[in-house]
Amino acid sequence: MLSFDPKAFIDDVSKYIRGIITSSDEVLAACSGGVDSTVSAVLVSRAIGKPIKAVYIDDGLRRVGEAESAVKMLRNIGLNPFIYDAREEALKSLRGITDPEEKRKAFREFFYSVLGRIAGEINARYVVQGTIAADIVETVKGVKTQHNVLEQLGIDTYSRYGFKVVEPIKDLYKWQVRMVAQELKLPIEVINRKPFPGPGLAVRIVGEVTWSKLEILRRVTEIVEEETADVESFQSFAVLLDSKATGVRDGSRVYGFITVVRVVSSSDALTAKFVEIPYSKLRRIAERITGEVPEVTRVLYDITDKPPATIEFE
Ligand code: XMP
Repeated sequence: MLSFDPKAFIDDVSKYIRGIITSSDEVLAACSGGVDSTVSAVLVSRAIGKPIKAVYIDDGLRRVGEAESAVKMLRNIGLNPFIYDAREEALKSLRGITDPEEKRKAFREFFYSVLGRIAGEINARYVVQGTIAADIVETVKGVKTQHNVLEQLGIDTYSRYGFKVVEPIKDLYKWQVRMVAQELKLPIEVINRKPFPGPGLAVRIVGEVTWSKLEILRRVTEIVEEETADVESFQSFAVLLDSKATGVRDGSRVYGFITVVRVVSSSDALTAKFVEIPYSKLRRIAERITGEVPEVTRVLYDITDKPPATIEFE
């Protein structure tokens, strides 16, 4: 592995931050509770020497209980967090969209418009976000439009949304971010937290995103995360396909959803290998999903590496 000195990085980036933001500036951090956005917010907060406001945008695309646990953790590490409820707005912005790239662009527009509104309400000129190198590389190459990459595509956030973006870790890969998190003495669950995409479950629902599909995927995701908690992986999650399949329950025909379980290992998210999970565990996952989520009649395991697949489905 390449060498990286997190302490030197923190010193350098703190100087860089102080060159842009002063302690009299109002700053907003867009925080999801993940390691990238948390590290970014803490770096800025410590560099300018005051707790900054951290908004958790509740877009309804997150997992069970995520808003509450994220806000609790952000408060515990000295930030000033609050939840902004944008669930209806998010769903409205995604309504009727089936193309994955259109979905990502619609989410990005929703997300930045909401951030711009919140930043305006608190007079924040700067918004801190946890963009990392892999997000930029893949967006610029045209693999996927990651929700948090704008300036690198020539989009001026200040004229379009009314704020300037500050991205302290945009040159780091995930393993380096985790080393910085460790150096900052963040809680172990933050340091080790598995990546969760900005557009959330929207990129794990193939086809149109609806509230009922989100509710199904939330329940399936909870089971998959519980059952794979002891499996070493970079990411471990569930996907809901847009086609259905025939099944049989209590002797009668049922026509239900198909879910995919995906567990991958990776260090930089640019390539990934599917994890060889024991069949007994896969069987248990399928039994739990079809038993506890009756809308689902079929469970598949994804045995594709990246490339040629990507980690997420959309
Ligand atoms: P893919 O699916 O491109 O994902 O192989 C690579 C890594 O990026 C995460 N991901 C995202 N993260 N905004 C993010 O912040 C996004 O729009 C986004 N899309 C994918 C994905 O979970 C994986 O870790």
